[in-house]
Amino acid sequence: MADNYLGRKMEEYEAQKCASVRTRKVSLMSLLAKNRSTRGFDTSFKVRKDQLVSLVEAARLAPSARNQQVLRFRLVTAEEAHLVLPHIRLGAALPEIHLPLPNTEPNAFIVICAMKEGRYVDMDLGIAAQTMLLRAVEMGLNGVCIAAFDHEIISANLKLPYPPQLILAIGRSAEHVEVVDITESEDTTYYRKGAIHFVPKLRTEDLIIG
Ligand SMILES: Cc1cc2nc3c(=O)[nH]c(=O)nc-3n(C[C@H](O)[C@H](O)[C@H](O)COP(=O)(O)O)c2cc1C
Repeated sequence: MADNYLGRKMEEYEAQKCASVRTRKVSLMSLLAKNRSTRGFDTSFKVRKDQLVSLVEAARLAPSARNQQVLRFRLVTAEEAHLVLPHIRLGAALPEIHLPLPNTEPNAFIVICAMKEGRYVDMDLGIAAQTMLLRAVEMGLNGVCIAAFDHEIISANLKLPYPPQLILAIGRSAEHVEVVDITESEDTTYYRKGAIHFVPKLRTEDLIIG
C-alpha cells in the first residue's frame, strides 16, 4: 500500500516536472513576435537594476566585429528616469498622438555608448540592442530602440564617458501591438486604430531576392 502510494507520488512528480518544462519552453519565433517596439508602459511596475543587468548579460554574449566589444551600457532606473525621459522622442510617425501617452512613460533605460568609432560599431549596436530586447521579452518585459534623442543633454545629464549611440526604453508593456502583413507596394509606416498599434511588415517572399 505504502509502496504504491510512493510510486504514484513519484509518477505525479515526474509528470509535473515534464509539464513545467513544457510550459517554460519558449520558441525564438514567439519571442520575436512579442518583441514589438513598445512606447507605452505600466508605470506601476518599476524595472529593477538586476533586470537591466540581465539584459547586458545577454548583450555580452552577442557577436562583435573583430570581437572588439566597444559598447558600454549605462543603466537608468526610476530614480534617474527624469534625466532621460524629456530628451527622447517616441513615435515620430504619429506626431499628433504625442507618445508616450500620459501615465504610460517608461521608467527604465539602457543607454548604449561606444568607446571607439568604427565602421562596425553600428552593426554591433544593432545586434546588442536586439539581443537585449529579446531577453527583455523572455523576462516578460518589452522595449523600444530610441535613436531620436538629444545626445548632448543625455551625455551631460548622465555624465557619460563615451558618446551615446542608442537608448533602449524597457518596461512592462501597456500596449496592444499587432503585425500586419503587407506587400512591397504598400506603406510601411506604423499606425494606430483606437488603442491598437499596427506594424506593417513585408511578407517573407518579398524579402527574398530572386
Ligand atoms: C535603430 C532604430 C532606431 C529607432 N529609433 C526610434 C525612435 O527614436 N523612436 C521610436 O519611437 N522608435 C524608434 N525605433 C522603433 C521603430 O520605429 C520600430 O522598430 C518600427 O516601427 C517597427 O516596429 P517593431 O519594432 O514593433 O517591429 C527605432 C528602431 C530602430 C531599429
